[in-house]
Amino acid sequence: MRTYLVTGGAGFIGSNYIHYMFRKYEDQIRIINVDALTYAGNLENLRSVEGRENYTFIKADITDREAMERIFKENDIDRVVHFAAESHVDRSIRNPEVFIKTNVLGTAVLLNCARSAWEREDGTYPEDKKFLHVSTDEVYGSLEDDGSYFYETTPYAPHSPYSASKASSDFLVKAYIDTYHFPANITNCSNNYGPYQFPEKLIPLIINNALHGKKLPVYGDGKNVRDWLYVEDHAKAIDMVQEMGRLGETYNIGGHNEKQNIEIIHIILETLQEMLPEGDPRKALVREDLITYVEDRKGHDRRYAIAPDKIKAEIGWEPETMFKDGIRKTIAWFFEHEEWMRNVTSGDYQKYYEEMYLS
Ligand code: NAD
Ligand code: TYD
Repeated sequence: MRTYLVTGGAGFIGSNYIHYMFRKYEDQIRIINVDALTYAGNLENLRSVEGRENYTFIKADITDREAMERIFKENDIDRVVHFAAESHVDRSIRNPEVFIKTNVLGTAVLLNCARSAWEREDGTYPEDKKFLHVSTDEVYGSLEDDGSYFYETTPYAPHSPYSASKASSDFLVKAYIDTYHFPANITNCSNNYGPYQFPEKLIPLIINNALHGKKLPVYGDGKNVRDWLYVEDHAKAIDMVQEMGRLGETYNIGGHNEKQNIEIIHIILETLQEMLPEGDPRKALVREDLITYVEDRKGHDRRYAIAPDKIKAEIGWEPETMFKDGIRKTIAWFFEHEEWMRNVTSGDYQKYYEEMYLS
C-alpha cells in the first residue's frame, strides 16, 4: 500500500485533496497528514476521514527538523505532497517573517528529510518515491490587461513577501532536482475557491459578509484580474501530475477563468439572491450598496492568468468545473456549514478582521 505524507492537510486545499484522494483510492493508499494547525488549519475539515484506519494525523511544524526526520524514519513514505505554507498575501505584507520561516525553511527541511530517506548510495532513487511541491502562479509576478499568459518558462518576478517566499521555495526544489536528481515536480496553480476556504480570502469573505449585511471591501478599482479554479479540479491535477508527470518538470494549473474582482462580487451577490429561498431573512441583507471601495493592497498585482497548455498536452488534465457551477457548489457548502463559519470567524479571525478592515 502506497504511503503519502501530506503537509498542510488541515488547510483549504490540503483537506480538499485528502477528501479527493480517499474518494478516488479508498483503502488502496495510506495518508499521513502533518500540520501545525496554525490559524488556517482546522481539523473539522477532516472529521469525516478521522476514523479511517489508513489515515493518521500528526500535529507538527514542518520547520521542526527532528519531528520531520522521525516521521520519515518511522514510516516508509512513498509520496510527499507539500501544501503547508503561510498563504495569505495581506498577512505577508503585515508580517513577512513567518512566511520566510514556514515557506522557505520548512520546504528546505522537508527536501532534506526526503532526500536522506530516499537517496541510495549511488545517488539514484527508488522509482516509486516522489515529491510534489504545491506552488502558486503568483511567483510569475503581474500581467498587463493585454491577453498575455504565464507559461512554465515565464521568468519569476514575485512582488509580495508571500510570492517571494513561494518563489524561493520553488527554487530550492529546482536546486534539489538539478543538484541531486531529486525526484520532484512543482505545480504552479491559479487562485482556488471552494469548500473549507478560510474567509480571509476574497470569495468566502464576500459570501460571509454578504450573508451578514456587512460591507464588501474592494481593494483599489476592483479591476484586478484573477484566474479562478474550483479546488477539486486542482486536487485532481496534483494527483495526475504526480502519477503521470515527467519527473523534474513544472506544470502550470489554471482555470481559463479570468475575472475582475468586482465581477466576482456581483456574481456572488446574484447567486446568493437566486439560491436563498423566498422569505429567508438573509435575502434582505445581500445588497449591492454594501460594496465599498477601500485603500488598495500595497504592491497589488494587476492580473494573473495561466495557460494550462503543457498539463493538457502531456497529462490530459483540463479544468472541469464551470465557474457558475463551482460558485453554486461553494455557496451551497457554506449554507450547509454555518457552524464551521461561526467557529472559524470567532477569536483570532475577529482580531485580524478588525485590524485589517476596521482600523
Ligand atoms: P491554507 O492557509 O488554507 O492552509 C495552510 C495549511 O498549512 C494550514 O492547515 C496550516 O495549519 C498549515 N501550516 C502552516 N504553517 C505550517 C507549518 N509551519 N508546519 C506545518 N503546517 C503548517 O493554504 P491553502 O490555500 O490550502 O494553500 C495550500 C498550498 O497551496 C500553499 O502552499 C499555497 O501556497 C498553495 N496555493 C494556494 C492557492 C490558493 O488559491 N489558495 C493557489 C495556488 C497555490
Ligand atoms: P485573495 O483571495 O487574497 O487572493 P490573492 O491575493 O492570492 O490573489 O485576493 C483575490 C483578489 O481580491 C486580489 O486582487 C485582492 C482582492 N481582494 C479584495 O478586493 N478585497 C478583499 O477583502 C480581499 C481579501 C481581496
